[in-house]
Amino acid sequence: MDKKVTVVGAGHVGATAAQRLAEKELCDVVLVDIIEGVPQGKALDLTEAAPIEKHDAHLTGANAYEETAGSDIVIITAGIPRKPGMSRDDLISTNAGIMKNVTEQVVKHSPGSILIIVSNPLDAMCHVAFDTSGFPKERVMGMAGVLDSARFRAFIAMELNVSVENTHAFVLGGHGDTMVPLPRYSTVAGIPITELMTEDRIEALVERTRNGGAEIVGLLKTGSAYYAPASAAVEMAESILKDKKKILPCAAYLQGEYGLQDLFIGVPVKLGSGGIEDIVEIRLSEAEQAALNKSAAAVQELKEVLKKLKA
Ligand code: APR
Repeated sequence: MDKKVTVVGAGHVGATAAQRLAEKELCDVVLVDIIEGVPQGKALDLTEAAPIEKHDAHLTGANAYEETAGSDIVIITAGIPRKPGMSRDDLISTNAGIMKNVTEQVVKHSPGSILIIVSNPLDAMCHVAFDTSGFPKERVMGMAGVLDSARFRAFIAMELNVSVENTHAFVLGGHGDTMVPLPRYSTVAGIPITELMTEDRIEALVERTRNGGAEIVGLLKTGSAYYAPASAAVEMAESILKDKKKILPCAAYLQGEYGLQDLFIGVPVKLGSGGIEDIVEIRLSEAEQAALNKSAAAVQELKEVLKKLKA
Protein backbone atom coordinates (compact mmCIF):
# COMPACT_ATOMS: atom_id res chain seq x y z
CA MET A 1 0.00 0.00 0.00
CA ASP A 2 1.26 3.53 -0.56
CA LYS A 3 0.01 4.76 2.84
CA LYS A 4 1.28 3.75 6.25
CA VAL A 5 -0.51 3.89 9.58
CA THR A 6 1.00 3.07 12.95
CA VAL A 7 -1.27 1.91 15.74
CA VAL A 8 0.32 2.28 19.17
CA GLY A 9 -1.16 -0.09 21.74
CA ALA A 10 -1.86 -3.58 20.38
CA GLY A 11 -4.66 -4.25 22.85
CA HIS A 12 -8.35 -4.60 22.10
CA VAL A 13 -8.92 -1.28 20.36
CA GLY A 14 -5.52 -1.16 18.65
CA ALA A 15 -5.61 -4.68 17.22
CA THR A 16 -9.19 -4.26 16.02
CA ALA A 17 -8.30 -0.96 14.36
CA ALA A 18 -5.32 -2.65 12.66
CA GLN A 19 -7.62 -5.39 11.38
CA ARG A 20 -10.13 -2.92 9.96
CA LEU A 21 -7.45 -0.75 8.33
CA ALA A 22 -5.92 -3.79 6.64
CA GLU A 23 -9.19 -5.40 5.59
CA LYS A 24 -10.32 -2.15 4.00
CA GLU A 25 -6.94 -2.05 2.20
CA LEU A 26 -6.41 1.52 3.35
CA CYS A 27 -2.74 1.23 4.21
CA ASP A 28 0.10 -0.87 5.56
CA VAL A 29 -0.06 -1.13 9.34
CA VAL A 30 2.58 -1.18 12.07
CA LEU A 31 1.36 -2.30 15.48
CA VAL A 32 3.45 -1.18 18.44
CA ASP A 33 3.17 -2.26 22.05
CA ILE A 34 5.46 -2.48 25.06
CA ILE A 35 4.61 -6.13 25.64
CA GLU A 36 7.11 -8.29 23.81
CA GLY A 37 5.62 -10.62 21.22
CA VAL A 38 2.06 -9.28 21.35
CA PRO A 39 2.21 -6.79 18.47
CA GLN A 40 4.33 -9.24 16.44
CA GLY A 41 1.94 -12.11 17.15
CA LYS A 42 -1.19 -10.14 16.32
CA ALA A 43 0.34 -8.70 13.14
CA LEU A 44 1.36 -12.21 12.01
CA ASP A 45 -2.08 -13.62 12.82
CA LEU A 46 -3.73 -10.84 10.78
CA THR A 47 -1.25 -11.46 7.94
CA GLU A 48 -2.24 -15.11 7.88
CA ALA A 49 -5.89 -14.09 7.56
CA ALA A 50 -5.12 -11.89 4.55
CA PRO A 51 -5.39 -14.60 1.84
CA ILE A 52 -8.90 -15.41 3.09
CA GLU A 53 -9.93 -11.81 3.66
CA LYS A 54 -8.42 -10.91 0.28
CA HIS A 55 -6.22 -7.94 1.07
CA ASP A 56 -2.60 -7.07 0.38
CA ALA A 57 -1.94 -4.71 3.25
CA HIS A 58 1.33 -5.48 5.05
CA LEU A 59 1.11 -5.78 8.81
CA THR A 60 4.11 -5.73 11.12
CA GLY A 61 4.47 -5.70 14.87
CA ALA A 62 7.19 -4.02 16.91
CA ASN A 63 8.23 -2.98 20.41
CA ALA A 64 10.27 -0.02 19.16
CA TYR A 65 9.57 2.77 16.73
CA GLU A 66 12.09 2.31 13.89
CA GLU A 67 9.52 0.33 11.88
CA THR A 68 7.01 3.16 12.23
CA ALA A 69 9.17 5.72 10.41
CA GLY A 70 7.36 7.87 7.89
CA SER A 71 3.83 6.99 9.00
CA ASP A 72 1.07 9.13 7.51
CA ILE A 73 -1.15 8.65 10.55
CA VAL A 74 -0.49 7.39 14.07
CA ILE A 75 -3.45 6.14 16.07
CA ILE A 76 -2.60 6.08 19.77
CA THR A 77 -4.55 3.64 21.95
CA ALA A 78 -1.79 2.93 24.48
CA GLY A 79 -2.72 3.21 28.10
CA ILE A 80 -3.92 1.35 31.12
CA PRO A 81 -7.56 0.96 32.10
CA ARG A 82 -8.83 2.37 35.38
CA LYS A 83 -8.35 -0.28 38.03
CA PRO A 84 -10.50 -0.70 41.16
CA GLY A 85 -9.47 1.81 43.81
CA MET A 86 -7.68 4.04 41.31
CA SER A 87 -8.74 7.68 41.33
CA ARG A 88 -9.41 9.55 38.13
CA ASP A 89 -6.33 11.69 38.81
CA ASP A 90 -4.16 8.57 39.22
CA LEU A 91 -5.40 7.34 35.86
CA ILE A 92 -4.65 10.68 34.22
CA SER A 93 -1.19 10.70 35.73
CA THR A 94 -0.30 7.19 34.51
CA ASN A 95 -1.80 7.59 31.05
CA ALA A 96 -0.35 11.08 30.61
CA GLY A 97 3.11 9.59 31.24
CA ILE A 98 2.47 6.88 28.64
CA MET A 99 1.08 9.41 26.14
CA LYS A 100 4.07 11.72 26.56
CA ASN A 101 6.52 8.90 26.07
CA VAL A 102 4.70 7.50 23.03
CA THR A 103 4.29 10.92 21.41
CA GLU A 104 8.00 11.71 21.78
CA GLN A 105 8.87 8.49 19.93
CA VAL A 106 6.23 9.05 17.26
CA VAL A 107 7.40 12.60 16.55
CA LYS A 108 10.99 11.48 16.26
CA HIS A 109 10.19 8.87 13.59
CA SER A 110 7.17 10.39 11.83
CA PRO A 111 7.48 14.18 12.11
CA GLY A 112 4.91 14.74 9.36
CA SER A 113 2.24 12.41 10.73
CA ILE A 114 -1.30 13.13 11.84
CA LEU A 115 -2.16 11.94 15.35
CA ILE A 116 -5.50 10.37 16.21
CA ILE A 117 -5.75 9.98 19.98
CA VAL A 118 -7.99 7.26 21.39
CA SER A 119 -6.62 6.67 24.92
CA ASN A 120 -8.74 7.88 27.81
CA PRO A 121 -9.38 10.28 29.46
CA LEU A 122 -9.60 11.43 25.86
CA ASP A 123 -9.66 15.20 26.07
CA ALA A 124 -6.78 15.28 28.55
CA MET A 125 -4.72 12.86 26.44
CA CYS A 126 -5.21 15.12 23.40
CA HIS A 127 -3.68 18.00 25.36
CA VAL A 128 -0.66 15.88 26.31
CA ALA A 129 -0.11 14.74 22.70
CA PHE A 130 -0.55 18.28 21.38
CA ASP A 131 1.85 19.84 23.91
CA THR A 132 4.45 17.08 23.56
CA SER A 133 4.40 16.85 19.76
CA GLY A 134 4.54 20.56 19.01
CA PHE A 135 2.49 19.65 15.92
CA PRO A 136 0.11 22.24 14.47
CA LYS A 137 -3.44 21.89 15.75
CA GLU A 138 -4.61 20.56 12.38
CA ARG A 139 -2.53 17.40 12.95
CA VAL A 140 -3.69 16.40 16.44
CA MET A 141 -7.23 15.19 17.10
CA GLY A 142 -9.17 12.90 19.37
CA MET A 143 -11.65 10.15 18.64
CA ALA A 144 -14.82 10.56 20.69
CA GLY A 145 -17.66 12.16 18.77
CA VAL A 146 -17.65 9.60 15.96
CA LEU A 147 -18.10 6.88 18.57
CA ASP A 148 -20.73 8.77 20.57
CA SER A 149 -22.70 9.61 17.44
CA ALA A 150 -22.42 6.03 16.11
CA ARG A 151 -23.93 4.83 19.37
CA PHE A 152 -26.71 7.40 19.11
CA ARG A 153 -27.32 6.37 15.47
CA ALA A 154 -27.50 2.69 16.39
CA PHE A 155 -30.09 3.44 19.09
CA ILE A 156 -32.14 5.66 16.73
CA ALA A 157 -32.16 2.88 14.10
CA MET A 158 -33.21 0.31 16.71
CA GLU A 159 -35.96 2.58 18.02
CA LEU A 160 -37.47 3.37 14.60
CA ASN A 161 -36.65 0.04 12.94
CA VAL A 162 -34.83 1.72 10.04
CA SER A 163 -31.47 1.22 8.39
CA VAL A 164 -28.51 2.63 10.31
CA GLU A 165 -27.39 4.03 6.97
CA ASN A 166 -30.35 6.43 7.02
CA THR A 167 -29.30 7.89 10.34
CA HIS A 168 -27.13 10.90 11.10
CA ALA A 169 -26.38 12.16 14.56
CA PHE A 170 -24.82 15.36 15.74
CA VAL A 171 -22.86 15.33 18.98
CA LEU A 172 -20.70 18.08 20.49
CA GLY A 173 -18.63 18.35 23.64
CA GLY A 174 -16.39 16.08 25.68
CA HIS A 175 -16.47 12.30 25.60
CA GLY A 176 -19.04 10.45 27.68
CA ASP A 177 -20.83 12.12 30.57
CA THR A 178 -20.55 15.65 29.26
CA MET A 179 -21.28 15.02 25.59
CA VAL A 180 -23.87 17.34 24.05
CA PRO A 181 -26.15 15.59 21.57
CA LEU A 182 -28.13 17.90 19.29
CA PRO A 183 -31.41 16.12 18.43
CA ARG A 184 -32.58 18.89 16.09
CA TYR A 185 -29.56 18.16 13.85
CA SER A 186 -29.90 14.38 14.21
CA THR A 187 -31.84 12.94 11.31
CA VAL A 188 -33.30 9.87 9.67
CA ALA A 189 -33.25 10.20 5.87
CA GLY A 190 -32.93 13.95 6.36
CA ILE A 191 -35.89 14.21 8.76
CA PRO A 192 -34.97 15.58 12.20
CA ILE A 193 -35.65 12.97 14.89
CA THR A 194 -37.63 15.62 16.75
CA GLU A 195 -40.30 14.99 14.06
CA LEU A 196 -40.20 11.23 14.52
CA MET A 197 -40.01 10.60 18.26
CA THR A 198 -41.40 12.05 21.46
CA GLU A 199 -39.16 14.18 23.63
CA ASP A 200 -39.16 11.44 26.27
CA ARG A 201 -37.94 8.79 23.84
CA ILE A 202 -35.24 11.10 22.50
CA GLU A 203 -34.09 11.83 26.06
CA ALA A 204 -33.97 8.10 26.80
CA LEU A 205 -31.77 7.46 23.75
CA VAL A 206 -29.54 10.42 24.61
CA GLU A 207 -29.11 9.06 28.14
CA ARG A 208 -28.26 5.60 26.81
CA THR A 209 -25.69 7.16 24.45
CA ARG A 210 -24.14 9.14 27.30
CA ASN A 211 -23.76 5.92 29.27
CA GLY A 212 -22.77 3.91 26.18
CA GLY A 213 -19.28 3.13 27.43
CA ALA A 214 -20.47 2.18 30.92
CA GLU A 215 -23.21 -0.08 29.52
CA ILE A 216 -20.60 -2.14 27.65
CA VAL A 217 -18.26 -2.27 30.67
CA GLY A 218 -21.20 -3.50 32.75
CA LEU A 219 -21.75 -6.37 30.33
CA LEU A 220 -18.12 -7.30 29.63
CA LYS A 221 -17.09 -6.87 33.29
CA THR A 222 -13.36 -7.27 32.52
CA GLY A 223 -12.85 -4.70 29.78
CA SER A 224 -14.33 -1.87 27.83
CA ALA A 225 -15.77 -1.42 24.34
CA TYR A 226 -13.46 -1.90 21.41
CA TYR A 227 -15.30 -2.82 18.21
CA ALA A 228 -17.08 0.53 17.88
CA PRO A 229 -14.14 2.62 19.16
CA ALA A 230 -11.87 0.94 16.58
CA SER A 231 -14.42 1.53 13.80
CA ALA A 232 -14.64 5.19 14.78
CA ALA A 233 -10.87 5.73 14.70
CA VAL A 234 -10.66 3.99 11.33
CA GLU A 235 -13.43 6.14 9.85
CA MET A 236 -11.38 9.21 10.78
CA ALA A 237 -8.21 7.67 9.33
CA GLU A 238 -10.00 6.73 6.11
CA SER A 239 -11.28 10.26 5.55
CA ILE A 240 -7.71 11.55 5.93
CA LEU A 241 -5.99 8.84 3.86
CA LYS A 242 -8.46 9.20 0.98
CA ASP A 243 -8.80 12.97 1.40
CA LYS A 244 -12.56 12.44 1.55
CA LYS A 245 -13.25 15.65 3.48
CA LYS A 246 -15.94 14.03 5.61
CA ILE A 247 -17.49 16.19 8.31
CA LEU A 248 -17.07 14.20 11.50
CA PRO A 249 -17.33 15.13 15.17
CA CYS A 250 -13.81 14.98 16.60
CA ALA A 251 -11.94 16.44 19.55
CA ALA A 252 -10.19 19.49 18.07
CA TYR A 253 -8.12 22.30 19.56
CA LEU A 254 -10.34 25.36 19.68
CA GLN A 255 -9.05 28.89 19.56
CA GLY A 256 -12.15 31.00 19.81
CA GLU A 257 -14.55 28.74 17.92
CA TYR A 258 -17.77 28.20 19.85
CA GLY A 259 -16.50 30.85 22.26
CA LEU A 260 -13.89 28.43 23.67
CA GLN A 261 -10.19 29.04 23.96
CA ASP A 262 -7.16 26.70 24.01
CA LEU A 263 -9.19 23.60 24.68
CA PHE A 264 -9.69 20.21 23.03
CA ILE A 265 -13.38 19.53 22.68
CA GLY A 266 -15.67 17.65 20.33
CA VAL A 267 -16.90 19.71 17.37
CA PRO A 268 -17.70 18.93 13.73
CA VAL A 269 -14.56 19.13 11.62
CA LYS A 270 -13.67 18.48 8.00
CA LEU A 271 -11.10 15.67 7.74
CA GLY A 272 -8.88 15.52 4.66
CA SER A 273 -5.26 14.88 3.77
CA GLY A 274 -4.19 17.91 5.80
CA GLY A 275 -5.91 16.60 8.93
CA ILE A 276 -8.46 19.02 10.36
CA GLU A 277 -9.08 21.25 7.36
CA ASP A 278 -11.96 23.19 8.83
CA ILE A 279 -13.94 23.52 12.06
CA VAL A 280 -17.63 23.78 11.28
CA GLU A 281 -19.37 26.31 13.50
CA ILE A 282 -23.12 26.24 13.86
CA ARG A 283 -25.35 28.58 15.80
CA LEU A 284 -26.36 27.04 19.13
CA SER A 285 -29.40 27.77 21.25
CA GLU A 286 -28.76 29.17 24.72
CA ALA A 287 -29.34 25.76 26.31
CA GLU A 288 -27.01 24.03 23.84
CA GLN A 289 -24.24 26.60 24.38
CA ALA A 290 -24.66 26.23 28.15
CA ALA A 291 -24.29 22.45 27.86
CA LEU A 292 -21.17 22.90 25.72
CA ASN A 293 -19.72 25.36 28.23
CA LYS A 294 -20.32 22.81 31.00
CA SER A 295 -18.50 20.21 28.94
CA ALA A 296 -15.66 22.68 28.35
CA ALA A 297 -15.43 23.35 32.10
CA ALA A 298 -14.93 19.60 32.66
CA VAL A 299 -12.08 19.56 30.10
CA GLN A 300 -10.60 22.68 31.73
CA GLU A 301 -10.57 20.80 35.06
CA LEU A 302 -8.59 17.97 33.44
CA LYS A 303 -6.15 20.54 32.06
CA GLU A 304 -5.63 21.84 35.61
CA VAL A 305 -4.89 18.30 36.81
CA LEU A 306 -2.28 17.97 34.05
CA LYS A 307 -0.74 21.31 35.00
CA LYS A 308 -0.40 20.15 38.61
CA LEU A 309 1.28 16.95 37.43
CA LYS A 310 3.83 18.94 35.46
CA ALA A 311 4.60 21.24 38.40
N1 APR B 1 3.63 1.95 24.69
C1 APR B 1 2.95 1.13 23.89
N2 APR B 1 1.88 0.42 24.32
C2 APR B 1 1.53 0.55 25.60
C3 APR B 1 2.20 1.40 26.49
C4 APR B 1 3.30 2.13 25.99
N3 APR B 1 4.01 2.97 26.75
N4 APR B 1 1.60 1.30 27.70
C5 APR B 1 0.59 0.43 27.58
N5 APR B 1 0.53 -0.03 26.31
C6 APR B 1 -0.38 -1.01 25.71
C7 APR B 1 -0.72 -2.17 26.63
O1 APR B 1 0.35 -3.10 26.71
C8 APR B 1 -1.97 -2.74 25.97
O2 APR B 1 -1.66 -3.77 25.05
O3 APR B 1 -1.65 -0.45 25.41
C9 APR B 1 -2.55 -1.53 25.22
C10 APR B 1 -3.93 -1.14 25.69
O4 APR B 1 -4.79 -2.16 25.35
P1 APR B 1 -6.01 -2.66 26.27
O5 APR B 1 -5.57 -2.73 27.69
O6 APR B 1 -6.60 -3.86 25.60
O7 APR B 1 -7.04 -1.44 26.21
P2 APR B 1 -8.09 -1.12 25.04
O8 APR B 1 -9.39 -1.75 25.38
O9 APR B 1 -7.48 -1.40 23.72
O10 APR B 1 -8.25 0.46 25.23
C11 APR B 1 -7.19 1.32 24.93
O11 APR B 1 -8.61 3.15 24.32
O12 APR B 1 -10.89 3.43 24.35
C12 APR B 1 -9.69 3.68 25.02
O13 APR B 1 -10.30 3.77 27.36
C13 APR B 1 -9.63 3.03 26.38
O14 APR B 1 -7.66 4.22 27.10
C14 APR B 1 -8.14 2.98 26.61
C15 APR B 1 -7.59 2.76 25.21
